[in-house]
Amino acid sequence: MSDPIPESAGPKWWQREVFYEIYPRSFQDSNGDGDGDLPGICQRLDYVQWLGAGAIWLCPFFRSPMADGGYDISDYRDVDPMFGSMGDFSALLDQAHARGLKIVVDLVPNHTSDRHPWFVESRSSRQNPRRDWYVWQDPGPDGGLPANWLSHFGGSAWQKDDATGQYFYHAFLPAQPDLNWRNREVRTAIYNDMRFWLQRGVDGFRVDAVTNLVEDQLLRDDPPNPARGRGKMPDDEIKRVFTKDRPETHEIVREMRDVLDEFSDRVLIGEVHLPLARAMAYYGGKRPSFHLPFNFQLMESLWDCRSISAAIDQYMQLLPEDGWPNWVLGNHDEKRLATRIGEAQTRVAAMLLMTLQGTPFIYNGDELGMQNIRVSRRETRDTRVKNMGSHRYSRDGARTPMRWDSGTGSGFTTGRPWLPLGADTNPDVASQRQDPGSLLNLYRDLIALRQDSPALVAGEFVPLATRGDVLNYERCKSGQRFRIALNLGGKTQRFPFAGESRIVLSTIRDRAGEILSGNGVLRPHEGIVAECGER
Ligand code: NOJ
Repeated sequence: MSDPIPESAGPKWWQREVFYEIYPRSFQDSNGDGDGDLPGICQRLDYVQWLGAGAIWLCPFFRSPMADGGYDISDYRDVDPMFGSMGDFSALLDQAHARGLKIVVDLVPNHTSDRHPWFVESRSSRQNPRRDWYVWQDPGPDGGLPANWLSHFGGSAWQKDDATGQYFYHAFLPAQPDLNWRNREVRTAIYNDMRFWLQRGVDGFRVDAVTNLVEDQLLRDDPPNPARGRGKMPDDEIKRVFTKDRPETHEIVREMRDVLDEFSDRVLIGEVHLPLARAMAYYGGKRPSFHLPFNFQLMESLWDCRSISAAIDQYMQLLPEDGWPNWVLGNHDEKRLATRIGEAQTRVAAMLLMTLQGTPFIYNGDELGMQNIRVSRRETRDTRVKNMGSHRYSRDGARTPMRWDSGTGSGFTTGRPWLPLGADTNPDVASQRQDPGSLLNLYRDLIALRQDSPALVAGEFVPLATRGDVLNYERCKSGQRFRIALNLGGKTQRFPFAGESRIVLSTIRDRAGEILSGNGVLRPHEGIVAECGER
């Protein structure tokens, strides 16, 4: 691949910075009610800055009945009292900006809460001027469902409204009715809500569930999925041909991008869960769409050398010429990284994330190696579990509060935390900060190395032959060259190492300064970054 950023231009902030995802309810409680809030995040900006992340993605804090953790919004232009006030948001934004930190917020355009005044009006009668703002349909010819479409969160995606005799469509919970993006007024309303936040100074949006925006106008049934039964989710029964990634979606994303581009230097990030080639189309080509359509390849891959090497290669091969890569290892919807890949590999994962070419995203707590925490049925908060009929769909285990210290309430709250904090043996920030050999300090040092090294921020990515369990690549720019070697297995590995190089960072932290020449050895689960001379 050629040099992705021309020397003269220099990387944009969203290419240069490490993003840190904050789940507001679990980050820091400032008033002792057990729920994290915006003033709490303000108190912890020091930490984000100390870690070295330069941009925060803030999950929803908007007014919401919390049927889906805030992804069910009843007022796009207000802060939910659980998280504070508009004044608190402005203070957070000002303080973040004063420290040079960017803040990107969630935009949830696919659906509102069923308590949103738009839906309350829409539902009130078939003649209501807002009726067409949502996806309403008459019953099918047999008096049943209008189509076989399924909700991602279990069961049919249609909900009957007895008062008006029609069904409304919901790709997620019945409490999250889908907006009708074919309706011009809906588009204008959401675009104006975007302008509302952009004018207040947010640095961009992470657009939720964007591939769900449009459904087939002919109401054609989705076909059965040949791989059904093998999938993880109840809607794997069908292939979403008519309910996801419809061609009209691209036009909408371009319109969103136009709105964003009315303001300078903002970023548009898209939650695009699709097969790779289709996901890449969301960069937009001639008329740009997302700066960063999320890349979930590493999160969805098996964690072994061949699979990771293949996931990286397929992604880099398909990346459009002017597309900038990004890498996600965890988020609030998936199992914790440390639980998914095993604690032993968390350091290798950190080194991979910070040395690949492209913008890295860290989910809060993963930098400590937080594990999924057991949340009993009685303590469950993720309401989709009810709809999906099984506790195994709960996302609570990955959403538990940050562990700041080992005291009562873990430094997160003085009250009763909304989700359990887990056993005292779980990692916490205070003890890891003091320990130079901790995972947290490895993240910090990797970020610092990255930010100081043009080759790691913007350099070319050169894959090298994979040997055994060792993933091998180089990053090069303007005479600077790094070689990265990661042992994704549990056995000692030897591998050839052309030329001479000096280790600058190793995951076990005892090899900095070591000169490698001809051969390299990696202990189990070890990774190194070495600086090489000119080729
Ligand atoms: C994706 C979000 O990340 C998830 O938490 C949410 O439940 C769905 N979209 C629906 O908004």
